[in-house]
Amino acid sequence: MAIFLDTGNMEEIKTYHKMGVIRGVTTNPTILLKCGVTGGIEAIKKRSLEIAELIHPYPLSVEVTSNDSEQMIAQAKEFAGWAENIVVKITIHGPHGELENMEGIHELETVHKVKVNVTAMMSAQQCLLAAMAGATYVSLFGGRVNNMGYDSRVEIEKTRDVLDKLGLKSQIIIGSTREVLNIFEWLLAGAHIVTCTPNLIKGMIVHPYSKETVQMFLDDAKKGVC
Ligand code: E4P
Repeated sequence: MAIFLDTGNMEEIKTYHKMGVIRGVTTNPTILLKCGVTGGIEAIKKRSLEIAELIHPYPLSVEVTSNDSEQMIAQAKEFAGWAENIVVKITIHGPHGELENMEGIHELETVHKVKVNVTAMMSAQQCLLAAMAGATYVSLFGGRVNNMGYDSRVEIEKTRDVLDKLGLKSQIIIGSTREVLNIFEWLLAGAHIVTCTPNLIKGMIVHPYSKETVQMFLDDAKKGVC
């Protein structure tokens, strides 16, 4: 079981990497945009290299920016060549349900030996087929699943069960975190990895009653010294 950080913000990555609590980083075009990464592929490359170097040997997921089959393959090969710990994110299908992505995922993993993180998945059945195609990681968006009125834990349990039964190598990453509770719930439901926003890791560490207790220790220490 592991926690990844779902951000492209260098300061946040440095903070939690130094603590020794994260085992990887995931990004996507939306996250990078929010983190001020604009300027096309060159900007993505610059930030990706910074993150990859900082967290090495832990993996960094970087998503392709096109849904054109040829461009996806070309970008995936290029991104994977930037650093040995870069994993390439490919969505399970295109915005209109285009199926070519699956063939690309299979080709990247089996022919080009590029590690693929299949992303934007909302169900165990999508994860199963991505795993069968050879994906290194299958990314399920737990918060979005819950927002649609389904229980993401059920999808995680089903995915883990079928991957284990079939002996498929893919690791389940569950992202789209919304609450601190998601992290424990999803790991215990069978996710190999939860990729979470930095504020939620802080929420796991800081407890109001711990604050009060620490203050008590410090106050009494002062009294004891005097
Ligand atoms: C996971 O890999 C994704 O980057 C991310 O968690 C998506 O989260 P969102 O639903 O908050 O966009």
